[in-house]
Amino acid sequence: MVVARLAARDRHAGGDGALSGIMAGRFITFEGGEGAGKSTQIRRLAARLRHEGHVVVTTREPGGTPAAEAIREILLGGRAKPLGAEAEALLFAAARTDHVDRLIRPALANGDWVLSDRFTDSTHAYQGATGGVDEELLDALDRLAVGRTRPNLTFILDLPAAIGRARVDARLAGTGQAPDRFEAEDIALHERRRAAYLAIAGREPERCVVIDAEQAEGDVAGDVWRAVLSRLLHRTA
Ligand SMILES: Nc1ncnc2c1ncn2[C@@H]1O[C@H](COP(=O)(O)OP(=O)(O)OP(=O)(O)O)[C@@H](O)[C@H]1O
Ligand SMILES: [Mg+2]
Repeated sequence: MVVARLAARDRHAGGDGALSGIMAGRFITFEGGEGAGKSTQIRRLAARLRHEGHVVVTTREPGGTPAAEAIREILLGGRAKPLGAEAEALLFAAARTDHVDRLIRPALANGDWVLSDRFTDSTHAYQGATGGVDEELLDALDRLAVGRTRPNLTFILDLPAAIGRARVDARLAGTGQAPDRFEAEDIALHERRRAAYLAIAGREPERCVVIDAEQAEGDVAGDVWRAVLSRLLHRTA
């Protein structure tokens, strides 16, 4: 059953799969700590790509489909925290499976651009590097949830955790909301996640681009756009 399921995933996978010639879709993920500017930059890149005539689907993790959004509420509300980081990783993977199956893979097969606010690297940084969940287990969950539907490009928005925290605090003060289960964690933990993201980028330079997210919003957007142009559209600015 699982084997058949994985085989089906590979048949429908994007990227280097046998069908890649007829799949014009591109899959971009935005990663980084709390308040790094992921949501802001996704909005900006989506607008720019649409302006160029591309069909763009923006989405987020955990979430993106009704079932995955329900799991998001459990995770970010903190209800799964007492179960431990491994159980949380399983819930993230369950949400991701539905997200990939029902939203990401069909959109890519349709030739759309998919921009996701967080994806598997977040699981490796949060549940792996700072949650103590075994990396091999996380890799196995990736194979199950994602198969070969891997991002063509990943932006790691990098900034000191304290600056990200200050941005989130300002946003929360404006909306009157409480911090979520991960936002509430201490700065030292967020700095270790920052290091984990940079380590991933170091291991996978073909997929990952590290962006200095301390810059002004427009400058971050400029760096993002230049990377999309050169890496995915094979043009220069
Ligand atoms: N380059 C920037 N400089 C200063 N402020 C920024 C910049 N980019 C975004 N912001 C602001 O910082 C806050 C956090 O940005 P955003 O919500 O895009 O980050 P995020 O990475 O999606 O955060 P979260 O992890 O909480 O979802 C927002 O209020 C946003 O307006
Ligand atoms: Mg966000």
